[in-house]
Amino acid sequence: MASNPIFILAPMDDVTDTVFRQIIASLSPPDVFFTEFVNVDGLQSPGREQVIKKLKHTNKEKPLIAQIWGRKPDNYEKTANELVDMGFDGVDINMGCPVKTVTKNGCCSALISDRKLAKEIIDSTKKGLKGRIPFSIKTRLGQNEIDYSWIEFLLHQGLDRLTVHARTVKEMSKVPAHWDAMTEVVRLRDKISPKTQIILNGDITSIKQGSELTKKYNLDGVMIGRGIFRDPLLFSGNDSWKSFTKEQKINLFIKHIKLYEKTWGDSRKVHVLNKFCKIYIEGFNGAKEFREQLMAAESYDALLNLLDKSLIQ
Ligand SMILES: Cc1cc2nc3c(=O)[nH]c(=O)nc-3n(C[C@H](O)[C@H](O)[C@H](O)COP(=O)(O)O)c2cc1C
Repeated sequence: MASNPIFILAPMDDVTDTVFRQIIASLSPPDVFFTEFVNVDGLQSPGREQVIKKLKHTNKEKPLIAQIWGRKPDNYEKTANELVDMGFDGVDINMGCPVKTVTKNGCCSALISDRKLAKEIIDSTKKGLKGRIPFSIKTRLGQNEIDYSWIEFLLHQGLDRLTVHARTVKEMSKVPAHWDAMTEVVRLRDKISPKTQIILNGDITSIKQGSELTKKYNLDGVMIGRGIFRDPLLFSGNDSWKSFTKEQKINLFIKHIKLYEKTWGDSRKVHVLNKFCKIYIEGFNGAKEFREQLMAAESYDALLNLLDKSLIQ
């Protein structure tokens, strides 16, 4: 186990873009950031310009791991090589996403049931990286059942880090994460690949809880996703978000929207910002009604006008 637990902000599509990562970095950064998942087949196609946006970053979001997914081993190799040149601090393969639109093409969590292709993808990625930056995988405990043979398989691949979202694919996010399964995962790590860091993911909502779990299961750290929606200052380890005033929260949302508009303009939809209403517009009188108004706004100007007006009321 690492001497200090590692706290990672989970990759979340349409959430952890460069803008949100910069906001979190300015409040209280995690030890490691991830990009949203980036499709290697799209990146190595004429549609590249559309996909490469997800790799946009600044040096404020560091260290930053690029997360990739896709089908074709060759595209993993090419992409891995490019990611080193782009200055990423590591490459992670998504072998856990359960969403049908990706698994129907044999990608992400579907690889749990196709170890031949999983191995080809891993080998190609390593070929592209040539050991220049760390290599990791994020996965689930199994397809329909907890399947430690999958974890064993991964631990034989010489990974620097393995993140386990402690649910099966079938369970989606519908049951509590099986934290107890980490006892066996760590036992296998110690036996097969002692140098691979083991990170637990699923249902963790605070630094305190993450530290306790790390100690209990002898982990190297934890990854936190949805917890950030309830407390954007989560990685500070104190409860400072609770003392934020309505004005402070609204001003933070304004900062987020302005940076989002400057970064993405019309290339990402304004409605993607709706997800963030829940973070900033909560915990004060009339928050629910105000959120509904904001979520109906059709443009950056409309959103900013509503927020500005609420500050002078
Ligand atoms: C909106 C959303 C988008 C997500 N996108 C990704 C992704 O791009 N890559 C990935 O590995 N996991 C993705 N996930 C899964 C999370 O990284 C994480 O594994 C899951 O939310 C469980 O952790 P939590 O309980 O801390 O949220 C996403 C989850 C959410 C809610």
